[in-house]
Amino acid sequence: MALKLADIRSVSAIRRSFVLSFFTFIVLFGLRANAGIATFDETEMRRLLGRIPDKASYVKLSSLSLGDPAGYHLSHSLKKKAVRLSEMVLKKNIIKSPVTQEKMDIVVGFIEHLKPNLPKFFERHSSLYIHADSILAYSIMAYKSGRIYLLFDEMDVGNKSGGYKRFSRSIEYNSEKPHAHLIIRKKNAQTKLEEAIDELKVHMAFEKSDRILKFLDTDVYTGQTPEGAFENVVAIEEDLYDGDLSDMVDHCPSPDGAVDMFVEMARSVAEMHAGKYIHRDIKPSNFLYREIADRHHHKRMDIVLADFGQAESATSLNYGQYFCGTPGFIDPQACIHYLNRDAGTFVNFDEGRRADIFALGMSFMDILHGHKHNLHSQASTVNNLIFDPAKRRQGPAAVLAAVERFKNIHETTFPDGKPKLKGNEKLLFKIHQIIAKMMHPEPSERMSLDEVIRNLQRSKKKNGFQRVTAPLRRLRP
Ligand SMILES: Nc1ncnc2c1ncn2[C@@H]1O[C@H](COP(=O)(O)OP(=O)(O)OP(=O)(O)O)[C@@H](O)[C@H]1O
Ligand SMILES: [Mg+2]
Repeated sequence: MALKLADIRSVSAIRRSFVLSFFTFIVLFGLRANAGIATFDETEMRRLLGRIPDKASYVKLSSLSLGDPAGYHLSHSLKKKAVRLSEMVLKKNIIKSPVTQEKMDIVVGFIEHLKPNLPKFFERHSSLYIHADSILAYSIMAYKSGRIYLLFDEMDVGNKSGGYKRFSRSIEYNSEKPHAHLIIRKKNAQTKLEEAIDELKVHMAFEKSDRILKFLDTDVYTGQTPEGAFENVVAIEEDLYDGDLSDMVDHCPSPDGAVDMFVEMARSVAEMHAGKYIHRDIKPSNFLYREIADRHHHKRMDIVLADFGQAESATSLNYGQYFCGTPGFIDPQACIHYLNRDAGTFVNFDEGRRADIFALGMSFMDILHGHKHNLHSQASTVNNLIFDPAKRRQGPAAVLAAVERFKNIHETTFPDGKPKLKGNEKLLFKIHQIIAKMMHPEPSERMSLDEVIRNLQRSKKKNGFQRVTAPLRRLRP
């Protein structure tokens, strides 16, 4: 049939339809690129990470022979772009020292001179990192995707380091939008940079999800340690969020706001579980938030789950073998499993899922009460009996005794825990009942995430009195 249709078309019609399909392809391809859907070449990344670095791969402005930056002439529209970029740096409070317009003009002039040279460079490389110097005020990273970022690294007053990555802000040159720039460097003999690849794969497995953090660009370059040694570094560009939910720990102003937040958090974790992954490091600082407006201009809090450094797929050959997470958030029962089993911490997906639910319950508790409450301290004690080599010597009996103590604290804390928050006591009581079931010492007794979401919503409907997401108002500077 298809052939018959083609037969009756004139040659020009065929040409027209070919041209049309070609343009449709270009438009769709462009949209895909603009949507920021990221990908990376795993083989190439492994090759780069496997090589012994012997020189820094970033380049100096002076080595690029792109003319004298002081002599760059900027058109009127580029001058305006430089002004907008400076304003963005100011508006987002990225750096302390004032942005001099002259410096930003040089950065813009330089990028414009660099752009035509990039296709040739990308025949052999997938990114270009140009280091800031006395002339170029900010470092610049250009990726094969065509996106070019201004980096602020240590200059960013908001830069911070987690256990594995260092976060700072960047600005994408074309869109002029701020982004998150994360770098992973090998900190000690145990850190494997290759784990970054597994982490990126988790992002990609959930690239269609609005509840799981996305990345836009990534590559490996060779940097230098403060001692002068060369080291491979993984760089990742992500959507930028306003902060992480550790900002809310002990700063949650209303039970109604807490329910909205908890529902979003639970939905993100449920989405991971539905995709057959467990997170293994659920805690407030691994949820990112930002304020967004819907099409009716109603503001709401957008929450995503981040940091997949410890995440595991149910299909992984090593599933559940390792003991990992953050002390204070690890299921005490998983500690006992780890001691008793040669096979590792979890034998099946369900056990892993229930440990994530425990950690989510602990995160809710911390948001309501700070992290100094007895349940958190006792969970830390249990967890450190495994993590800390000196304490591990106390043996399984010490772990079992510490877990018993956790059980006692759990019993006495719920349902009569004394909430610090003023306001809707009835709703708080309900929230605590739900948390109690999420953190039940016996994993099989724990509430499923579907039930958590349903119960939270039902409790708010019956006992809540506002629909606003109150935490946002408190957070706005
Ligand atoms: N896209 C982003 N937008 C805003 N802030 C971010 C973003 N990504 C990371 N951060 C900040 O950087 C912190 C560290 O990032 P991340 O949790 O990925 O690193 P980590 O080193 O694996 O952390 P951990 O200490 O949990 O091991 C986050 O808790 C958050 O405050
Ligand atoms: Mg983290």
